[in-house]
Amino acid sequence: MKTARGKHSSRPAPSRELVELRVRLAEAEESLRAIRRGEVDAVVVAGRQGPQVFTLEGAGHAYRVLIECINEGALILTTDKMILYANQCFAKMVKCPLEQVVGGSLRRFLSSEDRATLRPLLKRADKTGFKIHVFLRAGDGSQMPAHISSCPLAKNGAKRPTHGIVVTDMTEARRTEEVLRALTHRVVQAQEAERGRVALELHDNITQLLCGILVRCQTLANKLSSRDGPSKAEATKLCEMLGQTAEEVVRISRNLRPSVLDELGLVAVLRDTGTEFAERTGVSLKLACLRLTARLPADAELALYRILQEALKNVEKHARARHVVVHLTKRGAFVQLVINDDGIGFDPDRHLAKQKGKGALGLLGMRERATHVGGVLNVKSARGKGTTIEAQIPVSGCGAGGTQR
Ligand SMILES: Nc1ncnc2c1ncn2[C@@H]1O[C@H](COP(=O)(O)OP(=O)(O)OP(=O)(O)O)[C@@H](O)[C@H]1O
Ligand SMILES: [Mg+2]
Repeated sequence: MKTARGKHSSRPAPSRELVELRVRLAEAEESLRAIRRGEVDAVVVAGRQGPQVFTLEGAGHAYRVLIECINEGALILTTDKMILYANQCFAKMVKCPLEQVVGGSLRRFLSSEDRATLRPLLKRADKTGFKIHVFLRAGDGSQMPAHISSCPLAKNGAKRPTHGIVVTDMTEARRTEEVLRALTHRVVQAQEAERGRVALELHDNITQLLCGILVRCQTLANKLSSRDGPSKAEATKLCEMLGQTAEEVVRISRNLRPSVLDELGLVAVLRDTGTEFAERTGVSLKLACLRLTARLPADAELALYRILQEALKNVEKHARARHVVVHLTKRGAFVQLVINDDGIGFDPDRHLAKQKGKGALGLLGMRERATHVGGVLNVKSARGKGTTIEAQIPVSGCGAGGTQR
């Protein structure tokens, strides 16, 4: 067992003993350093009643040393956010001396919004703990994105429940996220430009060529007399197939980049997309759109159109729905697009957990589309209860009137 020794003395120190005192001071300092580093299990103090042993609870002390050394903020908090313990790292994060942090409230380091979020979580966190993202407000007024992870601590006779809190600085992670988001945005922009180019090529070249062939084929079929029975039937069949192919090429080109979006705007393209979907799939689709008196910004229109397109693709692929209802409304400074189906539904949380590392990109893409134009996307769904996709996109100054059906 490694120990540190201390001794009480009241003798005056003549100069000869000054040297001895200095040596003892150095020893004491070394002992304190060893205690701080967890190299000491017990301290023996020589008192008037003989030596007294103070144990430092070996294993617990090691944990304490670990908490002091880690590169994360660590706190012990009461339910009403009083800080009973904080490590140096947390004091550094909030740019405040440790002695001013301990005994104070965590409230001063949180925005009113984060305080309101944290309050019920701490009250409810007796059994399971929680994890949230907040912005820490440092003593100098700067803000730091942080992740707070909490777990309830055993009461051990304490009157009030306490919580162990680990605070992680998310500045670097946020920066990486922003870079990734900007990159994704550029990929999406490049993809949109390429889609537009391919759509134009299909429309202007392939469709025109197909139409030319179809006209010639029809002329040929008309020239054949009834005596050329099988050949005439074959030519007629060929015309039919060419017509279908041309239609399919138009559909693909429209999906890639509908010219009606650029020429007539959002409501027209939502209507076209809805009609095409209902005719092709046999699923009924009701559309209620607000009357827009001015065009929305081009990127907002494109985002809303792509979200509808992706949502309908999912209805077709997964939902087994009979009815779809699409609403385009205005809520304050936001335009809201809601797509609701009465299909089999799914569990969005489980899907999110499963999705990590897998290839499903539809919902993720919709969310990214909304985020890039400053909006949000919510997915509400439950098994057997259908699915609702809700996109809210900020649009300032666009005119909007009543609803068109
Ligand atoms: N309207 C819906 N009804 C029922 N389940 C849905 C609906 N929309 C999405 N889902 C479920 O959510 C999952 C994820 O959808 P998402 O669009 O992200 O991927 P995906 O459609 O499987 O693949 P991708 O869109 O990349 O081709 C789907 O696999 C499906 O299980
Ligand atoms: Mg999908």
